[in-house]
Amino acid sequence: MEAAHINMVRIGEFAWSRMEPSEGHYDLDWIERAVRNAERHHIAVVLGTPTAAPPAWLTTKYPETLRTKEDGRRDEHGNRAQFNWADPKYRELARAIAEKMAERFGRDPNVIGWQIDNEYGNESYDSATRAQFQDFVRRKYETLENLNTRWTTAYWSETYQDWRQIPIEERDGNPGLLLNWKLFVSDTWRSYQQNQLEAIRAHAEPRQMITTNMMGWFDAYDHYTVAQDLDFASWDDYVGTGHLDPVRNGATHDLTRGFLRRNFWVMETQPGFVNWSPDNNALNKGEVRAMAWHAVGHGAEAIEYWQWRSALNGQEQYHGTLVGADGTPVPLYDEVKQLGAEFETAAPVLAGTTVESEVAVLQDYNSRWAINWQRHNRDFDPVASLIGYYGPLRALVRSVDIVADTAPLSGYKLVVAPALNLLTPEAVKNLESYVRGGGHLVFGQRSAMKDQDNTLFAQRQPGPLAELLGARVEQWYALETTVPIEGDWGSGVDKVWAEQLGVKSPDTQVLMRYGKSNGWLDDQPAAVTRKVGKGRITYIGVALDGAVMKGAAKWMVAESGLSAVMPDLPEGIDLSIRSGTGKRVLILTNYAAEPRPITLPSAMQDVLKGGAVSNVTLPQFGVAILR
Ligand code: GLA
Repeated sequence: MEAAHINMVRIGEFAWSRMEPSEGHYDLDWIERAVRNAERHHIAVVLGTPTAAPPAWLTTKYPETLRTKEDGRRDEHGNRAQFNWADPKYRELARAIAEKMAERFGRDPNVIGWQIDNEYGNESYDSATRAQFQDFVRRKYETLENLNTRWTTAYWSETYQDWRQIPIEERDGNPGLLLNWKLFVSDTWRSYQQNQLEAIRAHAEPRQMITTNMMGWFDAYDHYTVAQDLDFASWDDYVGTGHLDPVRNGATHDLTRGFLRRNFWVMETQPGFVNWSPDNNALNKGEVRAMAWHAVGHGAEAIEYWQWRSALNGQEQYHGTLVGADGTPVPLYDEVKQLGAEFETAAPVLAGTTVESEVAVLQDYNSRWAINWQRHNRDFDPVASLIGYYGPLRALVRSVDIVADTAPLSGYKLVVAPALNLLTPEAVKNLESYVRGGGHLVFGQRSAMKDQDNTLFAQRQPGPLAELLGARVEQWYALETTVPIEGDWGSGVDKVWAEQLGVKSPDTQVLMRYGKSNGWLDDQPAAVTRKVGKGRITYIGVALDGAVMKGAAKWMVAESGLSAVMPDLPEGIDLSIRSGTGKRVLILTNYAAEPRPITLPSAMQDVLKGGAVSNVTLPQFGVAILR
């Protein structure tokens, strides 16, 4: 590890049966040995609390700590994540092990941080958890009358007469019920995590940072809810089948950076390949290195490979590693070693820098859940819709933030809200004051349709912002055939979803129109915009892609007073910029099959190779770091 310039390891995250072999008997000496061994080789340690894998003695003695699956069966020992995250006994035992670890390592100079649990995700559908959920909605709605009104439960005779009648539904329930279950799940992960955070923080020096490893677009809980108590966010970045998609993966980094609006870690990534995908192909030679630098470009402060060496048995024998089962390097080791050396060289240059953006794309779990429960057209994917905007915008401005609709927005010149279906009162206020304060807000399809209970607004879209827009959605259509579109952004076709807009105010301008299709849409407005004081609000009711989406992105950028950054980069080149503390660092990677020559705007320092350059040529998966 030391030879590969690895300067940090994460350990322990599933090792509960080895740390507490029987109830109340702890053995952390072996962890201590590992920490000291690492220290001798200048490798810092992040400790994982082992609570994603309870020992057999625990779930045998306290069967209530096992989760109940959706089909009503109790999970069993023999895999992982079989615990019930809401169970008080489980929390007591989890807190005890976290506390023991923190007592022992909270002041350890070679322990730099903590990971709580591992990839939160599994819920439990047992009756005690259901009772907690019922209490959650009772606290929130206070009276059944209030709940019944806000969820419109008279519909289908769903009216509740007792809090204990409220069920758990994941898919087919009343929209208010579905949303509240997700909010409960999110809060329960937060308190599950808080339980261990408290135990650790009571003993750990503040320099020890605490995180948990999240999973990109995974939507089992609201990540903004859970991330708010952490010191920094991190995620596990796996390609699975195929190769790195720099746009989608870049968006996922930006999503993670947006959880706390600061730099993040890649807590796990694949050393070549995984074992859990249908086809576990390896990334090509050079791709692992390009992927790591690409992550750094988006604000990653650390890259960790899962895993170093395979366990000889256990469920992940085929997963990629850096050394084989024999403990000696696999071919990829040298590439990671090169990367380690490069990180060492570039670290002083990158220190104190982050991604600074003037464009934000809004992301909202409530909206994604609400649409996914009622897609209306099975091909309408809210994440794809978000990335559809993100990609062309980022290609122009090179830095985009992905943040919640309640995040501070006044620093952005352009805020785009694709499929922001559901708006809480705080979000409405935030968006409205952004526009009134001089910002440019762009809504994408299906936006501003519902309120915080997943209840339809009693106004047409964009609901409380329709007046500001001076226009509204007259009707939406799930498309069966393509619809031609034409206007300021060029001409093309809409494939999945179309919203027929109606203009109500004389100063609201039509930007795009539908062509002849189902009769209803013929010649109708598809995108509109209105200047509001120094600000602007735009609604795009049409699904854009290809050249028209590029046209729209150019318009949005120009209309917001922004300009394209290094617009002449060749196709296949990705550019990220990190800046701060008086520095500006370009991170260039090439995903084209051929070498790409790049002319720089001025002479720059080549951080990895040394010297000044005014142009560079990057082979496939080539990397250049320029200051
Ligand atoms: C997840 C887990 C790891 C490991 C990897 C394999 O991200 O956190 O423990 O199973 O997947 O890719």
